[in-house]
Amino acid sequence: MSKYQSVRGTRDLLPELKKSFRQIDEIAYKTALNYGFSEIETPIFEFSDVFHRSLGETSDAVSKETYTFTDRGGDSITLRPEGTAGVVRSFVSEGLAQHVPLKLYYYGPMFRYERPQKGRYRQFYQFGVEILGLESALADVECLDLAWTIIKNLKLSERCELEINTLGDVESRNGYRQALVEYLTPFKSQLSEDSQVRLEKNPLRILDSKDEGDKKIVATAPLMENFLNETSKKFFSDVLEGLKKLNIPFKTNPKLVRGLDYYCHTVFEFTTTELGAQGAILSGGRYDGLVEMLGGPKTAGVGWAAGVDRLADLCAATLEKEKRAPVSLIANGENALKEAVVLASELRNKNHYCEVFLTGNFKKKLEKANKFGTEKAILIFDQADGSLEYKVKYFTTGEEKVISRAEALKL
Ligand code: HAM
Repeated sequence: MSKYQSVRGTRDLLPELKKSFRQIDEIAYKTALNYGFSEIETPIFEFSDVFHRSLGETSDAVSKETYTFTDRGGDSITLRPEGTAGVVRSFVSEGLAQHVPLKLYYYGPMFRYERPQKGRYRQFYQFGVEILGLESALADVECLDLAWTIIKNLKLSERCELEINTLGDVESRNGYRQALVEYLTPFKSQLSEDSQVRLEKNPLRILDSKDEGDKKIVATAPLMENFLNETSKKFFSDVLEGLKKLNIPFKTNPKLVRGLDYYCHTVFEFTTTELGAQGAILSGGRYDGLVEMLGGPKTAGVGWAAGVDRLADLCAATLEKEKRAPVSLIANGENALKEAVVLASELRNKNHYCEVFLTGNFKKKLEKANKFGTEKAILIFDQADGSLEYKVKYFTTGEEKVISRAEALKL
């Protein structure tokens, strides 16, 4: 075994897997274009504060999972654990507020120091969307509709489920938070270590704790829905009504709170039961306070991100892989081979997919061309007088005929 392995939690996207990633990104991107989104790319690292402020000190993503280092200039830098904070930082620092509403799409690697397992990596890929500057519940609906259309285009609609909840506005959430702390405090010593810390800092996160003991305590906790003020209730019912009108199936889950601190109102997750513990394939929600938190003007925001690694695991087998048949160039002789390279380049410049086989005898090259799914090959032969002979060979019928070089270029 080689001394050098890829770092734990990272992996090489070998050609077959990379092809699925690219296909997924293409399907998502093209669908997003139909919904009026345009693409943005922000750096994969930012000043650490960008993430600490936006995701919250108590979120796992910041407290335990960031790749943070001091660079040579003495600045604290963090590899992005997610895309929203960077997009919002860019919105603020590039002065994009004057262009709202903005609908942005992004794709790229994210980094979290999580415990690696199937479907969970330390470098993983997301595509995501953010809508900035729209307060209407219909923006949440449009966002979810786009997610659902992408899922349908990936042929995954039968294999996942949308769970949705509301965290209400600040007023509703504060009331609920207080009730939850009052309910949980008598159980404090029975809560898991993580949840004991969360009780002080972010009690809502205890609701989606994976700890079995916590789950029992939480089962009879007060529910958010009983603490929603009229504005929050109306907002959520508008979102659900929109989903119904669009025939997007969903299930409300009052325990869904999401791991990042910036959410308010709508939160959602598309989950599958086919990936074991890592069931979330696309998740997001509304984050109306985030732009202000990063120093920008009061701006509403809603969006989501999807895990491409997880999507690839789910749909690699069902994505239709386009198989292109090459024009194969098969040379017999030294000069013929040199000419094959030149002719291939000319054909490729005319936008043809060509394969040239540089090694092996004539028979081996024919066999290789066959393996590549060749339908048409150009055979080139050295002649005794130093000239070259060109033939076209049709693999389906086996027919061969002599052609000129000019004819070869027109095939
Ligand atoms: P998130 O739920 O942390 O949300 O991540 C979104 C998706 O990324 C998850 O549903 C999952 O599919 C994938 N994912 C997360 N962690 C890993 C991992 N370690 N390995 C593989 N896949 C992973 C966000 O990141 C928010 N920024 C979403 C958002 C956008 N909210 C509003 N706008």
